[in-house]
Amino acid sequence: MLVLKTEKELKSHLLPLGNEKSLGLVPTMGALHHGHASLIRRAISENDTTVVSIFINPTQFNNQEDLKKYPQSLKEDIHILEKLSSEIIVFAPPVEEMYPNGVTSTSYQFNGLDEVMEGAFRDGHFNGVGTVVEVLLKLVNPTKAYFGEKDFQQLQIIKRLVEIKDIPVDIIGCPIVREPNGLAMSSRNERLSPVLRKEAGLIYKTLETAKKRFGTESAKSIMDWVKNQFKEHPNLKLEYIEITDVETLMPIKRKQDNRKYRAFIAVYADEVRLIDNIALN
Ligand code: PAJ
Repeated sequence: MLVLKTEKELKSHLLPLGNEKSLGLVPTMGALHHGHASLIRRAISENDTTVVSIFINPTQFNNQEDLKKYPQSLKEDIHILEKLSSEIIVFAPPVEEMYPNGVTSTSYQFNGLDEVMEGAFRDGHFNGVGTVVEVLLKLVNPTKAYFGEKDFQQLQIIKRLVEIKDIPVDIIGCPIVREPNGLAMSSRNERLSPVLRKEAGLIYKTLETAKKRFGTESAKSIMDWVKNQFKEHPNLKLEYIEITDVETLMPIKRKQDNRKYRAFIAVYADEVRLIDNIALN
């Protein structure tokens, strides 16, 4: 398996592929799990060559403790990738390679998509994500790039990023992969105690019930109900529950038949922050 560290190495392997062959890119921060694997399998099935990037991007962490605690497991990740396909090209650059001019973010105009939910609670997060994804897309120049609906707001922001920067790539959204109790797979789940990991199944259960209620109840009454559910579980601290329009990510005002809606949730399980979302209609 090819593990490349620099732009130069990457270019020298990608250039000979030419323009006729399709290239898939799956950006990750490593600590790979089945959620990542589902994106990578899809990329492999749809492209001649697949690049998986592994880079813990410092500019998207608003909390330095979270960055410090982010799991690093390149060896194990490479082992997982080997099992998926030995033909994957891994791009795992050091920070200086991605940020040769200093570790700072570009400021983007995401039309308000970055001002709600994750954007409201994680200052500067989406400028950091945008910065690193723009660099990766320009370095790799993929035909398609794959992102999980687990981070649905991120997915919408990346779609906007390629529009405003005019980057010729198809952004493909992939469904959320879950643990048997419904908890959305995440690198952060490893930090949960077994008891808390089980209890965190409540997050998805609550979203599923919210979806059932969406047919007959107002968004406000559903959100109040969700807030009450978490009051009964002091180990799980609800940070936000929002029901928004899928395209604009603006909070729902009045349900319209021709619009799609989604519920978004962020919960602290002890000090571990978990997010999830579900399509409501
Ligand atoms: P990371 O958290 O490593 O996730 C990489 C990709 O895997 C993202 O597109 C994410 O949505 C997807 N993913 C994670 N868990 C998933 C799950 N349970 N089901 C489906 N997809 C899942 O997201 C990032 O890294 C970074 O922000 C990145 C885009 C790499 C930029 O630094």
